[in-house]
Amino acid sequence: MMVCEYRPGLEGIPAAQSAISNVDGQKGILEYRGIPIEELASKSTFLETAYLLIWGKLPTSEELTVFEHEVRQNRPIKYRIRDMMKCFPESGHPMDALQASAAALGLFYSRRDLDNPAYIRDAVVRLLANIPTMVATFQLMRCGDDAVRPHSELDYAANFLYMLNEEIPDPLAARIFDVCLILHAEHTMNASTFSARVTASTLTDPYAVVASAVGTLGGPLHGGANEEVIQMLEDIGSVENVRPYIEDRLQRKAKIMGFGHRVYKVKDPRATILQKLAEQLFAKFGHDKYYDIAQEIETFVGQKLGHKGVYPNVDFYSGLVYRKLGIPTDFFTPIFAIARVAGWLAHWKEQLGENRIFRPTQVYNGKQNVPYIPIEQRR
Ligand code: ACO
Repeated sequence: MMVCEYRPGLEGIPAAQSAISNVDGQKGILEYRGIPIEELASKSTFLETAYLLIWGKLPTSEELTVFEHEVRQNRPIKYRIRDMMKCFPESGHPMDALQASAAALGLFYSRRDLDNPAYIRDAVVRLLANIPTMVATFQLMRCGDDAVRPHSELDYAANFLYMLNEEIPDPLAARIFDVCLILHAEHTMNASTFSARVTASTLTDPYAVVASAVGTLGGPLHGGANEEVIQMLEDIGSVENVRPYIEDRLQRKAKIMGFGHRVYKVKDPRATILQKLAEQLFAKFGHDKYYDIAQEIETFVGQKLGHKGVYPNVDFYSGLVYRKLGIPTDFFTPIFAIARVAGWLAHWKEQLGENRIFRPTQVYNGKQNVPYIPIEQRR
């Protein structure tokens, strides 16, 4: 067996072979199944992109129509899951609510028929359809409202905004939100995808796979960063405060949220697309100071950290876009999860294709042969 050196965070160590997405961090390229992200963002829809990621090819018109219909039909969640969600504390984080709700689906669909394509398809459709409803349901319930019914006339993105805000969204807002979902749908072997693949490798059910990935996505170094970006913009409060604030953080060796990436050493291509979407949104729905503050941060952090390859990542502008769409800050990460379910499911399916359970090794650096001290002699 080949013995590898220990690398914290498994940096640079391949954890799987995958044909789902590709990143070139030096050139700022991201492709899903070989198609550049810019092409998908301008021409595709989230559900078409999800199909591409999961089944490896763009659907025909008929295949897409059937898939969209199946997802639409599966939007309502089981009343028992809704009732279970009523017991969640309103002060809880929506990511925890989502993780628990996704895991609960496994109670209803516990049969594991992983060799059966119909089982795989059912699980894919159910998870893509149910996760947005779960996210919106928690928001309405914590505000004291009953869960809204999904709108059967609206497409995936517009329906989510409808469920969340209880009004039919503006078409530009819905299209921008759909593009945000495309941009967040997949990103190679990130922490939550790795978590999904490790869980999948035990041949557990897909609901446990998604629940484990949701738990991993929630941390501030991963999906949680976009919430912290908004906090940072609010703390800064004005363009004049940007430079002293950033200087102070850097002196304290604190990270600037929304900047830096393990893989990208140039500006994340998703950040470039999101910045343009933010411009469109602000042009249509009114300019506000947070866009100017963000621009100044990007300029100044570029001057300070550009030489280290630290540039805006996907989270820097996504928070700004979601805020303008009227989405509560603690829902930014659940929205990331709604999108990333597509990537997790693609990896689940790929992992099942040539599965070997993950069982890495470790470098033991603890004591050995330590005598057991009776409790009364311990200090
Ligand atoms: N602010 C300040 N300095 C930074 C930042 C940052 N955001 N990111 C990296 N650096 C510094 C590192 O401290 C390091 O400095 P050093 O060489 O003097 O020690 C140098 O830049 C290189 O860092 P990397 O090795 O490129 O970063 P790493 O791979 O360890 O971490 C990470 C990547 C965790 C994303 C980091 O950049 C970070 O914490 N960013 C802020 C949180 C964030 O935005 N997360 C979202 C990531 S995208 C996503 O998950 C969807």
